[in-house]
Amino acid sequence: MAKPSAVTYDRPDERNLLDTTAQGVIGKPLDRPEGPLKVSGTATYAAEWKIDGCVEGVLVLADIPQGTVKAIHKDPVLAMPGVLAVLADEAMVRRPAQGTAGEAPVQDVHTVDYFAQPVALVVARTFEQARDAALALKVDYDAARDPVPLDPESPAATVEQPSDSEPVEGGDLDQAMLDAAFSVDVEYHTPGHASAAMEPHATIAQWQDDRLILHGSYQMLAYNVKEIADCLSIPPAKVRIIAPYVGGGFGSKLGITHEAVAAAIAARALGRPVRVVMTRQQVFQTVMRRSETRQRVRLAADADGRLTGLGHEAHVSNLPDEDFAEPVTQATEFLYRGENRLLKVEVARICRMTAGSVRAPGEAVGMQVLEAAMDELAEQVGIDPIDLRKRNLPDKVPVEGTPYSSRMLVQALDEGAASFGWDQRKATPCQVREGDWWIGMGVASAARVNMMVKAQARVTLKTDGTALVETDQTDIGTGSYAILGQIAGEMLGLPIDRVKVVLGDTDLPPGAGSGGSFGAISTGSAVMRACEAIREKLASALGCDAEDMAIKDGIARHGSVERPLAELVGGKDMAEVGAIEPGQTAEDFSQASYGAFFAEVAVHAFTGEVRVRRMTGAFGFGRVLNAKTARSQCLGGMVWGIGSALTEELAFDLRDGHLVNHDLAEYHVPVHADVPALDVILLEERDAAASPLQAKGVGELGICGAAGAIANAVYNACGVRVRSFPLTLDKIIPHLPDPFAAAG
Ligand code: MOS
Repeated sequence: MAKPSAVTYDRPDERNLLDTTAQGVIGKPLDRPEGPLKVSGTATYAAEWKIDGCVEGVLVLADIPQGTVKAIHKDPVLAMPGVLAVLADEAMVRRPAQGTAGEAPVQDVHTVDYFAQPVALVVARTFEQARDAALALKVDYDAARDPVPLDPESPAATVEQPSDSEPVEGGDLDQAMLDAAFSVDVEYHTPGHASAAMEPHATIAQWQDDRLILHGSYQMLAYNVKEIADCLSIPPAKVRIIAPYVGGGFGSKLGITHEAVAAAIAARALGRPVRVVMTRQQVFQTVMRRSETRQRVRLAADADGRLTGLGHEAHVSNLPDEDFAEPVTQATEFLYRGENRLLKVEVARICRMTAGSVRAPGEAVGMQVLEAAMDELAEQVGIDPIDLRKRNLPDKVPVEGTPYSSRMLVQALDEGAASFGWDQRKATPCQVREGDWWIGMGVASAARVNMMVKAQARVTLKTDGTALVETDQTDIGTGSYAILGQIAGEMLGLPIDRVKVVLGDTDLPPGAGSGGSFGAISTGSAVMRACEAIREKLASALGCDAEDMAIKDGIARHGSVERPLAELVGGKDMAEVGAIEPGQTAEDFSQASYGAFFAEVAVHAFTGEVRVRRMTGAFGFGRVLNAKTARSQCLGGMVWGIGSALTEELAFDLRDGHLVNHDLAEYHVPVHADVPALDVILLEERDAAASPLQAKGVGELGICGAAGAIANAVYNACGVRVRSFPLTLDKIIPHLPDPFAAAG
């Protein structure tokens, strides 16, 4: 099969090179090479760089919801010990970005769009001095004359179609609902979420002549450079970002946040390095939130449970003028049958901090609701919820007609069910009681769109026969170092200890960045292509075609000829830049990763407390690049699924719009005691349409539907159907059956 010549990925690369190579390192559950640095505290995160002469900046946040800054009383604060500057420059960012822009307009923090928006930066010699001065800074405001509502359900809120999404309409859903043998028409609510990455947002900015160097915590460096450059009106070539280790992002570091630009402006003004680290509370109050959602799901089914109609309409929110609207129905478009359909999202313009991408934007909340509604339908039809899902898999994407590149949903449901012991589930609720606890099981499908984005990487085969992989790709805890090394090791026939991976520096070729589950397949494909170019040179030195050459443990072979790479490379480093861009394959196929979740819960018969007792996830996402890091991604998603189901909820005070639970004591992410043993089953699959690696994205898949499985298990346990996430005790207790009636 021919080698694709274009950079754009226009037709599936069916050669499947990684199954023809000899090293056997791809897919293996190898440790992260940077793991020892991380667990010993010697991996340097953004705020930890030791930079001579660095002073400290602390952001000052507005304590009104909307208005304008009338006066900043700088003088008393400038007289405080150690204080060097108070800045409120018009280039400072008012709203964080999504990381896809190249054009951050001048935002001007003198306008306040939401409660706790940064309005100024105080810089002092020590952090304590800066914090003290920031607290003391007095800011006068004029309240907004015509304020935007604080509540997404306010009748005063403007409701719009998002600029970047069209409704999907086909047939006549209303008629299908009337004609249906079984139908479900339900409204669900999901709350806002915080990304709650472990590392708070932080930047150290320093200028070297007219060049800005940022040590920061970002997901997509090639974009972030452009954003910073736009804010400061300097060319992108004058910005370098260094971010080798990033302590989690989950979307909140896709684009630049307030501290980055503030630090850069302060460093320029003072002529010395400035560090700005957000507090945990500031992170909660100012970076991207996931929008709360109200979702109406309509399911029309025939007598066998086959969907004839499917409606999914979502109401989400964001600040005025923001492009992003949580794409709630994204997976609904391709997952199930039902030619009569109406899928749409509308966005209410409200005054809360910017809503943006938070892990698996769209599917995370869309799937948990769709899958809960499917459980309601299965009960009505009187069939097993797994059967219902299997009966409703279309041959092509409904309405649109696009074929699927690959889909492991049936295998995930079947293998997951077998491993979990689904056959032990009772079809009706309140059948299993252990002491004071009702026990139940639930299932949900997982689905998340697959995306490739533009990426480059440089691979150098050194004269000593070792390889170096270089790109600005980030590793936000996902395993980029491990998998990019494995791809190069496999392609070049090198054991993993002879491959070095250097990431997170914009002086290196621009990778995809980390977002949308696209980092591994996009930057990984660039690494693969660079290696392919090196293989061709090696083959020519060996005197054969690349496809006739086998390389293992640094020895290239063709027939009886064997030569070490160190010799073939010929006394001079062999460097190649590989590149890939999305192309026609993205249009020709519906590409998604799939899976299934199984949860067993216990619901306390008196208090309504829900404990997840065990959970299994089975996932198919093309080739597994590293079984350990892929599994970890799935585990992380499932843990967030537990949080989405039971505890996580941004709570806003509707009097002034402030976020009430702005720390990890009050915003409840699952802790160890909440997370039982989780099983992850990785299904092997190949998907040539998705990438030359034949891999698809997995980073976000583990959350997409997980909370639905838990909600369904709660219903199966105690017969209480809660249509408002999270499933806290207060929503369950009033509906519990008489706890004394059934003493199991
Ligand atoms: Mo992701 S929410 O695109 O980091």
